[in-house]
Amino acid sequence: MASTVIKGGTVVTADLTYAADVKVEGGVITEIGPNLTGDTLLDATGCYVMPGGIDPHTHLEMPFMGTYSTDDFESGTRAALSGGTTMVVDFALPSPGQSLLEAIQMWDNKSTRANCDYSFHMAITWWGEQVFNEMETVVRDKGINTFKHFMAYKGALMVDDDEMYSSFKRCAELGALPLVHAENGDVVAQLQAQLLAEGNNGPEAHAYSRPAKVEGEATNRAIMIADMAGVPLYVVHTSSEQAHEAIRRARQNGMRVYGEPLIQHLTLDDSEYGHHDWDHAARRVMSPPFRNKKHQDSLWHGLAAGSLQVVATDHCAFTTEQKRYGVGDFTKIPNGTGGLEDRMPMLWTYGVVTGRLTMNEFVAVTSTNIAKILNVYPKKGAILVGADADIVVWDPKLEKTITAESQQSAIDYNVFEGKEIKGLPRFTLTRGLVSVEDGEIKTREGHGEFVAREPFHAVNKALSKWKEVTAPRKVQRTGIPASGV
Ligand code: URP
Ligand code: ZN
Ligand code: ZN
Ligand code: ZN
Repeated sequence: MASTVIKGGTVVTADLTYAADVKVEGGVITEIGPNLTGDTLLDATGCYVMPGGIDPHTHLEMPFMGTYSTDDFESGTRAALSGGTTMVVDFALPSPGQSLLEAIQMWDNKSTRANCDYSFHMAITWWGEQVFNEMETVVRDKGINTFKHFMAYKGALMVDDDEMYSSFKRCAELGALPLVHAENGDVVAQLQAQLLAEGNNGPEAHAYSRPAKVEGEATNRAIMIADMAGVPLYVVHTSSEQAHEAIRRARQNGMRVYGEPLIQHLTLDDSEYGHHDWDHAARRVMSPPFRNKKHQDSLWHGLAAGSLQVVATDHCAFTTEQKRYGVGDFTKIPNGTGGLEDRMPMLWTYGVVTGRLTMNEFVAVTSTNIAKILNVYPKKGAILVGADADIVVWDPKLEKTITAESQQSAIDYNVFEGKEIKGLPRFTLTRGLVSVEDGEIKTREGHGEFVAREPFHAVNKALSKWKEVTAPRKVQRTGIPASGV
């Protein structure tokens, strides 16, 4: 079998730093040690050999707010690999009333062109006997052990507390982990209506309509509901001190709660919305919105302290033309920003180079922690014999300026435009395939495979039967994708 040896580098994992060569055969790591030989040698002199990044939060070709996010599984995973990320986890999103299994089939079809490995979370966008029953199939037969709940996007993806509590209880008995987008969607809807009525229709009003308190409240509520359901909880895109505080407190009280700041929230602040230029601000409209320095500091501190565990992107990229659907009404600006290509270089530059994070913490929050949380460790997230050869050979001396012109993403701008990066992949390997080599992109469309994830140990008792607890919310099967917010 042909072998590749990464030679002369320093292996950096979530807990160790040591000089060693790494041998790869048949897509997995077969040997780690000094003086290894092989058919192909990759020179890692002066570089750090780290587990490839895992981005657990992407929306590729997602139907949303009357359109589809522009990066698909091909351009999105190409962008990922060029920045050292070797696995993404996307969200299979049924429209309200639609079968979960049908949604998985749709995402299976979209993902055939992926350049790197991927997995799916399942979104719970409505509730009923069918969803309750299909959740078992999703966990046991489809390799999906995580269920996402939107507490915002009222009238579209949002679920209410009744539905959330029922779904969390079902997660608990199936050994699955619930995820939440934690913003109080009812309050956001009122604030949006009020701002529009007062004539505030520009993109800056998006931020006013989603203050940190709506996130703090929803995070607290989801944590308490998860505790009552007896299930751990993963909070996506944690952006505020209030949300972080709730997570911190829960963890100190012995609850298994995880928080996921995004690279955008760590490095871009709310002054981006004060820009004179409509396009500039609209391109940065995402939920939750960018916050001020106080919140940013809180997130950085949480990553160092371990009260926040993962840095993701929520990559959901819309072109300027798509953003302009919201001219005259900020609530129609498609929510989302890119970041897949820039997450690791930005976090290295603003985290490791500045001394906020150690190299080992960098590996933990970009790869190893989420591999453990999602139950794919050590297949992913590890430099160990037997692990998949998803490896980034990181050159701390490589520099670049981020520009839309040179990016892999298919959109026409980059929210990090002009940022000076220090630290980039010299090589990125995806299951042994060298897909970045000295800055040159050599991805192979369709190389990516679905990564099935086993459920966590669940209480050893018979599953419950469907029981209607309260009158269900009326959900009409529209047949249209979950897009109209
Ligand atoms: O604005 C965002 N975050 N768009 C993507 C969907 C979501 O809420 O994660
Ligand atoms: Zn969200
Ligand atoms: Zn300008
Ligand atoms: Zn998202």
